[in-house]
Amino acid sequence: MRGQALNGRFRPPGDKSISHRAFLFGLLTCGETPIEGLLEGDDVLRTGKACEALGAAVERLAPGRWRVRGPGLGSLPPPRATLDFGNAGTGSRLMMGVVGGHGITATFDGDASLRKRPMNRILDPLKRMGAEVLSQAEGGRCPITLKGARDPSPILYRTPVASAQIKSAVLLAGLNARGVTTVIETEASRDHTEKMLAHFGAEVRVTTEGEGRRIDLVGRPELRPSPVVVPADPSSAAFPIVAALIVPGSDIVVEGVMMNPLRTGLMTTLREMEADIDILDRRIEGGEEVADLRVRASALRAVDVPAARAPSMIDEYPILAVAAAFASGTTRLRGLHELRVKESDRLAAVAAGLAAAGVAHAIEGDDLIVEGGGLAKGGGLVATHMDHRIAMSFLVMGLASREPMAVDDTAMIATSFPEFRPAMERLGATFE
Ligand code: S3P
Repeated sequence: MRGQALNGRFRPPGDKSISHRAFLFGLLTCGETPIEGLLEGDDVLRTGKACEALGAAVERLAPGRWRVRGPGLGSLPPPRATLDFGNAGTGSRLMMGVVGGHGITATFDGDASLRKRPMNRILDPLKRMGAEVLSQAEGGRCPITLKGARDPSPILYRTPVASAQIKSAVLLAGLNARGVTTVIETEASRDHTEKMLAHFGAEVRVTTEGEGRRIDLVGRPELRPSPVVVPADPSSAAFPIVAALIVPGSDIVVEGVMMNPLRTGLMTTLREMEADIDILDRRIEGGEEVADLRVRASALRAVDVPAARAPSMIDEYPILAVAAAFASGTTRLRGLHELRVKESDRLAAVAAGLAAAGVAHAIEGDDLIVEGGGLAKGGGLVATHMDHRIAMSFLVMGLASREPMAVDDTAMIATSFPEFRPAMERLGATFE
C-alpha cells in the first residue's frame, strides 16, 4: 500500500558539518564555547568524546544545548586511548588535522565502514606539514596512529578533489603553524570551517579563483570564545522534502533549513525538476542564511545534473536518485566519482537499491542514469552497507512506491538523524 499524504511542520536536526566543527572549535579555544541546536547524532557525539580525550570539558546542558571548555590551541594533552569515531568520516578526518598540527600522538579508528575509507587524502598534506604516520592499515586506512608536528610548517595545498574534509584538515593543522597556510580548491566545497575560523577571530581570507577558492589562514591566532548556533541540516531536510514531493497529496513545511549556497545544490535541482517548493521567511540564524520550505507533492520532470554541481549536493545523490525514479523521463546525474568513497560505495548501493525497486538505471563511467516513469514498483530489500543515507533514501522511496521497500539495517540512521522515524511518522508516514 502507498503511504498516506504527508502533512505538518517539522524542524530537521542541527547540521552535522557545523556540529562537528562546533565541538572542534570549542576544543581549540581556551574558555567556554556555548552551542545551541547541536545535532545529537552518534557521529557528532563521537567527536565530542574525542574532544574530551584531548582535554576539553564537554557538557550537555539541555537537548541541543552544550558547553565546551577547551584547553585551547597548542595546549592539547595526548589522548590516553584510541579515538573511536564510529561511522564518522568528518569527525575523524578533521580531528586528524587537529592532531597533525600538535605535538601529540593519537590513534584513530572506527567501525567497519570507516575502516574502508581512504585517509591518505588527509595524511598526505599533514605529512608535508611535518606530521608522521606511525602505523596504518593497508592503503592508508584506519586504524591509524598519527604523530602530529610540534611546530607544523605552513603549506600551500591544492586539494586533489573538491573536499571540505581535506580543506578543513589542512586549515585546522595550519591553525597551529607559524605563518600563512593556504588551501586552493578548483571547485568550491562547503565553507563552514572558513566561516567558523572567522567567527572565532582567526585571520582568514577567502578569495574566489574561477569556480574555486583560495583560503589563506594566518596561524597561531588567539581564538576567542564565541557562541555557536547550529542551523537545521539541509542534508537531513532532503528526506522529508523528497518524501513530500513523491507522496501524492502531501503538503509540509520544513523549518529553519540552512540555505548556504554551497549546500543548496539539491534545492536547485529539485526546482529544475519542477518541484513545488516555496522558500519562505529567509533570515539569518547563527551566521547562516536559513529559510522555511513549503513543499507540496509534484509531478517531477527528469533533469541532467552537471558534474560541477556535485560539491554543493554531494550527500544528496541517494535521495535525488529516489526523486528521479518518480520523475517523468530519463535523469542523468554526472560526475559522481566521490560517491564511491562515502560511508559506503554510494554509487553501487544506490544502483542496487534502484534494482531492488524495479527501477531501470545504468552507471556509465561516473554518471548515474535513472529511468523515471511515475510510479516505482518497489517491494525490494535494500542492503544499506552501514550507510545512513542509503537507509533513509530507500525508506522514503517505500512511502511512494507501489509496494513498500525494506532495508536490512536502520541502526546507522542514528549517526545523522536519530529522530528520523518519529519525525516522519508525525508527518504521516508509516514504518513497520
Ligand atoms: C563534509 C564534507 C563532505 C560530505 C560530508 C561532510 C564536511 O565530504 O560528504 O558528509 O563536513 O566537511 P568530502 O569533503 O569528503 O566531500
